Amino acid sequence: MTQKTVLIIDDEPDIRELLEITISRMGLHTESVGCVSDAIALLQQNTIQLCLTDIKLPDGSGLDVVHHIQQHCSETAVAVLTAYGSTELAVEALKAGAFDFINKPVSIDQLRNLIKTALQLESSSATAIDSSRNTRLLGETDVISRLRQQITKLARSQAPVYISGESGSGKEVVARMIHANGPRRNAPFVPVNCGAIPDELVESEFFGHVKGSFTGAYGDKEGLFEAANGGTLFLDEVADLPLNMQVKLLRAIQEKAVRRIGSNEEISVDVRILSATHRDLSREVASEHFRSDLFYRINVIEVAVPSLRQRVSDIPLLANFMLEKIASEWGIPAPRLSEDALNALSSYPFPGNVRELENIIERAATLCDDETITAKDLSLPASNSSVNPDKHTDHLSAAIGDVEGYLASIEQNIINAALKAQQGNKTESAKLLGLTFRQFRYKLKKYNLD
Ligand SMILES: Nc1ncnc2c1ncn2[C@@H]1O[C@H](COP(=O)(O)OP(=O)(O)OP(=O)(O)O)[C@@H](O)[C@H]1O
Ligand SMILES: [Mg+2]
Repeated sequence: MTQKTVLIIDDEPDIRELLEITISRMGLHTESVGCVSDAIALLQQNTIQLCLTDIKLPDGSGLDVVHHIQQHCSETAVAVLTAYGSTELAVEALKAGAFDFINKPVSIDQLRNLIKTALQLESSSATAIDSSRNTRLLGETDVISRLRQQITKLARSQAPVYISGESGSGKEVVARMIHANGPRRNAPFVPVNCGAIPDELVESEFFGHVKGSFTGAYGDKEGLFEAANGGTLFLDEVADLPLNMQVKLLRAIQEKAVRRIGSNEEISVDVRILSATHRDLSREVASEHFRSDLFYRINVIEVAVPSLRQRVSDIPLLANFMLEKIASEWGIPAPRLSEDALNALSSYPFPGNVRELENIIERAATLCDDETITAKDLSLPASNSSVNPDKHTDHLSAAIGDVEGYLASIEQNIINAALKAQQGNKTESAKLLGLTFRQFRYKLKKYNLD
């Protein structure tokens, strides 16, 4: 294999020298220049695999280099060097197509990590989405095809991605695919449900602790950041993170380093951050439940996963795929869906999206008599979208004298219905109702439904 070349662009000779030495020791060839025009001249020769550029340069900005590379040599990976704390520039560079950034003063560890990832990126750039892995995004509608293309592109970048979408729409599938198709694919993918960790344990879960740092810390423990080192940390339900933890998370992301509770040692970590919620994160920011600086940092690129209602014509394909899977697991011939069953599915709104479809199909496959699933076997919840005006008078007569008690009884019914729809799974039931896990747990306690 021919030696790879890294182009270094910085107007300070000391920094150039530090980078040159570190990179040469990794067995790579370096070229160094001190301004944008010299960089572009070199890039035009098409011999550069990786480019590291400072932002402030005598004849322009490092962002100009990023733009030039995006337009003229998109096979070259580019990362920017940013002054400590200049989040905005780092974010701007990532949006412009830089695959990563590195803080000044440059930490040698971080630099090495970045270069390793970048060169893996290069060797993997030819592989298309690997569908042999179990993470698959099925669907033939335009919205899903576009999403798949977007994933292929995002997999190459190291930019943080925020994945939005309704409950059960496939956000985790998207996160796993971004990981599985990028240069970090052989390192761990660590998903964490931010709402499911008790407040008092969040910090230790993320950053780890040393023995004796608090009651119950019986031994040293590594945190999720360290566990995900070299790979991807998926912050699921990120809106559920307590505010004080949001500050600490921001710091870890910006500094690419963590400190275990009770320790003074900074451990540098190389982790790509993906996050998701089924809530509207910008609304959480507006209501001050989510810090805007963290939002800005994790939401560099947003991917919106469409709801099942936005791609109704994918339903038969998804349903048949699920039936095949069930059939092979259960060792039975795959049941088929009758015409009326398909029609019923196509007009059902699926508040729980693909996951709800999976549950419905599995239940129907269990209940159907012969090898055909009918609309009746699906037992779809009745749509209550048409408001019956008489209902309000019913409500009134039932609420007379005790509206609180009556509303509470309605709430209990809804909670029970959600639990039933999600087969007793509390996390999923909470999501279905748009509640945090904590809120949901509180209501279960309140009504003694536990
Ligand atoms: N396009 C798809 N193709 C195949 N399976 C899918 C697709 N989208 C979602 N699924 C399946 O639907 C289920 C729900 O997906 P996933 O867990 O990714 O949803 P989510 O958006 O993370 O949900 P939540 O908001 O509840 O966390 C999973 O079993 C997943 O495999
Ligand atoms: Mg999820």
